[in-house]
Order: sequence, then structure tokens, then C-alpha cells
Amino acid sequence: GAPVLADIGKIEAGQKVTFEWRGLPVFVVNRTKAQLDTLASVDARLRDPKSDNTAQQPDYAKNEYRSIKPEWLVVTGICTHLGCVPDFFPELKPEPFDPQWKGGFYCPCHKSRYDMAGRVYDGVPAPANLAVPKYHFVDDTHILIG
Ligand code: FES
Repeated sequence: GAPVLADIGKIEAGQKVTFEWRGLPVFVVNRTKAQLDTLASVDARLRDPKSDNTAQQPDYAKNEYRSIKPEWLVVTGICTHLGCVPDFFPELKPEPFDPQWKGGFYCPCHKSRYDMAGRVYDGVPAPANLAVPKYHFVDDTHILIG
């Protein structure tokens, strides 16, 4: 499939926009500082906090934010369990969600949870972090996915 040019210039802080690439949803999130600050605090509860599974992201996204620029998260919106599309929860949600959850993505099919970097929580069915597709910044407001 051809790469997709995504205009991210109008994505507000804390907002997610979904683009389509190769028939797959790709989530682009403009993460706030508060959202980024949650990441380190949940490491102990994650299955792959350091993104050691190299199949799930390019090398340039193997870092604490899983991204090229800290604020911009780019992940494929496909649950790594059985392929449902997770919902975006930018805020901590009360029960029935895990009260320790700091927000991120929640899969409605079998309740897998991911943090604001698409890293999967332990104790849920999904085996791996959400995949980061290949992408790069064309300029400050455009990324090329694929
Ligand atoms: Fe997402 Fe099963 S498909 S938890």
C-alpha cells in the first residue's frame, strides 16, 4: 500500500484523530504533558514497558514515549489480541475500569487495556503493545505513514 500523508496540524492537545493506511486505522494522538507524565508511573504494570518486542515498533519508536516526537503518538488502532479497534480514553476512568489505570486505549471485545503509549497492561488477553507503523515527519504539521 502507498504511504499516507496525514495532516496533523489541527489535532488539539489531548485529541486523537484516526487516519486510514492500508485499510487499517492509524491513531494519531497529540499527547499533553500530563498524559506523557503518566507513562513512567505505569511501567511496573505493563507486559513490555521497554518495547523490547521489536516486531511492534520501528527502532526510532523504541523509547519511553514510543514515538519520534514525545507529544505525537502514532499507533495502529488494532488490538493485538484478536484485532478489534480499541477505544480512546484520554482520562483515567472510574470503575468498571481498573482504578489504577491512567487512561489510554480500551478494547471493548475482551477488555484489554493499553496506556497512552499503546503499551499493553499485564493481566489482559492482548499479548503485545499496539504496533507503531513506519512514519516520519515531513514538516511540523504533516507525517507520512508507511
Ligand atoms: Fe481486543 Fe480481544 S480483541 S481484547
